[in-house]
Amino acid sequence: DVPELDERYEESFAIGAAVEPYQLEGESAEVLKRHYNSIVAENVMKPINIQPEEGVFNFEEADKIVEFAKENDMEVRFHTLVWHNQVPDWFFLDKEGNPMVDETDPKQREKNKRIVLKRLEKHIKEIVKRYKDDIDSWDVVNEAIDDGNPANGKGLRETVWYQLTGTDYIKVAFETADRFAAKDAKLYINDYNTEVESKRDHLYNLVKELLAEGVPIDGVGHQAHIQIGWPSLQQIEDSINLFASLGLDNQITELDVSLYGWPPDNAYPTYDAIPDSEFERQAVRYDQLFELYEGLDDKISSVTFWGIADNHTWLDDRAAHYSGGEGKDAPFVFDVDYNTKPAFWAIIDEE
Ligand code: G3I
Repeated sequence: DVPELDERYEESFAIGAAVEPYQLEGESAEVLKRHYNSIVAENVMKPINIQPEEGVFNFEEADKIVEFAKENDMEVRFHTLVWHNQVPDWFFLDKEGNPMVDETDPKQREKNKRIVLKRLEKHIKEIVKRYKDDIDSWDVVNEAIDDGNPANGKGLRETVWYQLTGTDYIKVAFETADRFAAKDAKLYINDYNTEVESKRDHLYNLVKELLAEGVPIDGVGHQAHIQIGWPSLQQIEDSINLFASLGLDNQITELDVSLYGWPPDNAYPTYDAIPDSEFERQAVRYDQLFELYEGLDDKISSVTFWGIADNHTWLDDRAAHYSGGEGKDAPFVFDVDYNTKPAFWAIIDEE
């Protein structure tokens, strides 16, 4: 019998997967139940799905995930209360339907800021109250840091949230989540490329400042959309240690190990076209990665893959897009038929 992945890492951290509701049935559900003990929604808990129109909350799809987790005794991560993507426009429009960012009058801008923050507060309050007893980890704010050096000089991503409220949206988000969440639930700020020094340090400085102001942040979510050869193990380790030095928990929240560089413009057109040697290379990477995670397990409370198996990954869209229409990636430890890959055996065998 194939050993269970979550059991293998039981002493260290939870093993999670991102899912769409359709995956809660059939073979994908069986693999989920067997190998994972934590779950997160790939899309259905994002603002555009939960509150598509002001005051119209749609919890149906999100409920399915929470129910599945309850039935199968799994932890649940919530992704995500705030993001600049997949957020409906109404959040940022005034009564006349005009974008609030266009407002030039300082007094009206101040009013608009209060309106936006109220909307955010209401959004978070409704959700957190509903799922208070079900969610272990909340992605409160997602991707607040820019990859480059924007004009604000602090690496803050200049989203509509930022333009309208500065960093107040982050504070209000954490404070509101904290007010309604269960006492033992943890609140995370989540981002990608947290291993890249410049971005990592911008995130570190932001979190440090917010903590000093008393903002209730419990941990950092490292998305970990990585590649076989990038970033280095040292960079990954340094980042985990850096945030742990602030007394924060770390979670690996969206792990996938792409076969390709960025952009993936040399992708294999189909799964069958991928040579075995690629899966072997990937297995070595997974082996090293989980050895590292395991060595840091007092600083990492969960490792979540951004999917279950190679038949469903957001990376396919990227691979196809950049490779001119066709392209298949294979980032996980189960193949397109839910069979174990070399990467699976690499991370199961570790001492
Ligand atoms: O639901 C609509 C469907 O009605 C429509 O027919 C179809 C046509 O394109 O689109 C569907 O929406 C898609 C949605 O996924 C659900 O499948 C969107 O186009 C597509 O853009 C969206 O992509 C998601 C992406 O976030 C959006 O930015 C990916 O599935 C999801 O994996 C990805 O996840 C993000 C994390 O939230 C944050 N970190 C990065 C990560 C990867 O990009």
